[in-house]
Amino acid sequence: MALKLEEHGPSGSVKDRSAAGLLRALHQERPLTPGTVVVESTSGNLGLALARLLPALDCSFLAVIDPKTPPATRRMLTDNGAQVLMVDKPDGQGGFLLSRLEAVWDTLARHPGHRWPNQYENWAAPAEHRRSTGPELIAQAGDSLAAVYVPVSTGGTLAGIASHLREHGPDVDVVAVDVHGSLAVAGTAGRRLIPGIGSSRPSHFLKSADSYDRLVRVDDVEAIAVCRIVAEDLGLRLGGSSGCAVRALLTDLERDRVARGLPVCLAADGGAKYRDTLYSLAWTTEQGVEKDIMAAMEQLRREGLYFARREPHHLEQPRQ
Ligand SMILES: Cc1ncc(COP(=O)(O)O)c(C=O)c1O
Repeated sequence: MALKLEEHGPSGSVKDRSAAGLLRALHQERPLTPGTVVVESTSGNLGLALARLLPALDCSFLAVIDPKTPPATRRMLTDNGAQVLMVDKPDGQGGFLLSRLEAVWDTLARHPGHRWPNQYENWAAPAEHRRSTGPELIAQAGDSLAAVYVPVSTGGTLAGIASHLREHGPDVDVVAVDVHGSLAVAGTAGRRLIPGIGSSRPSHFLKSADSYDRLVRVDDVEAIAVCRIVAEDLGLRLGGSSGCAVRALLTDLERDRVARGLPVCLAADGGAKYRDTLYSLAWTTEQGVEKDIMAAMEQLRREGLYFARREPHHLEQPRQ
C-alpha cells in the first residue's frame, strides 16, 4: 500500500489544488479586482487554501465554517487574514453544510459584490484534479498502480482523478470512500465525527454511474483507530479522512477485493490540525467514543494490523 501525502501542499491539503482551479475559473468568468471579498463554505481545508491565495490578488476572504472545523484550522484561518463566520445550527442531516450554505446565500444577498466559487458545483475543481492529481498518481505509483482510494465530500477530488484514470489507467480500480451517516454517495444521514469527509447532501460531481468503480463506506470510529495505529507504527499522523481511506483499503483486503499491484490511498491532509480532536483523549472522551476507539484498535491489532515503513521506490538505494 502507498499513501499519497497531500499534506505537503502549500496550505497542507489536497484542497490547494481545488482552490487554484476555482479561483482561476472565477477570475476568468469576471476578473477578481483588488478589494473583492470571496465567500465560501468550508469544513476547513479549502478555506485555508483560499486564505493563502487571495491576499496575492489583493482580495479578502470570508470563510463560513462550523463547530466541526478543528480549532487549529480556525486559528490558521484568522492568522492568514480570513474573516470567519461560524454557523452553529445543525442541518438535520448529520452535519452543518446546509446551514453553512444558507449563510453563504444570505451573505451574497446582503453583499451582491461578494464572489462565491461554489466548490460544491463548480467543475473547475474536478478539472484541476484531472489536470494535476490524476497524472501525479500515475507518475508516482508507476505501472503497478492497481487501485486508488479517495475520500469524498464534494466529490470534486474523486471526480477529477477518476476522469484522468478512465483515460490513462483504465484498469485502475477507482474507489470512493465515504463514512456512515453521509449522503455524499447515497447513504442515510447520521452522526459524523470526522471533518473533511462526508456530506449532508449528494455530491453534484458523482451522479453518473461511471463516476467511479466502487464505494466503500467506513465507520468513523474505526478510521480514527486506524489513524492512531499508523501514528504508533510509523510516527506519521494522518488526517481523519486519510484514516478512512486506509480503513476502506483494509476492508477490501479482508474481502480479497484488491487487484494485484499497488493500491494507493489519497491522504488528503495530515494530522497536525487534529491534535486537539481526533488525536486528543479529552476530545474523543467528550464525544463518547474513546472506549470504542480503544476497542477498535485492540480488534485491529488482534487481526494482525501492523504497518512497517518502506521507502518509495524512487527513493530506494540501488542494491549493491
Ligand atoms: C481532509 C479532507 N479529505 C477529503 C476531502 C474531500 O474532498 P472533496 O470535497 O473534493 O470530495 C476534503 C475536502 O474538503 C478534505 O478536507
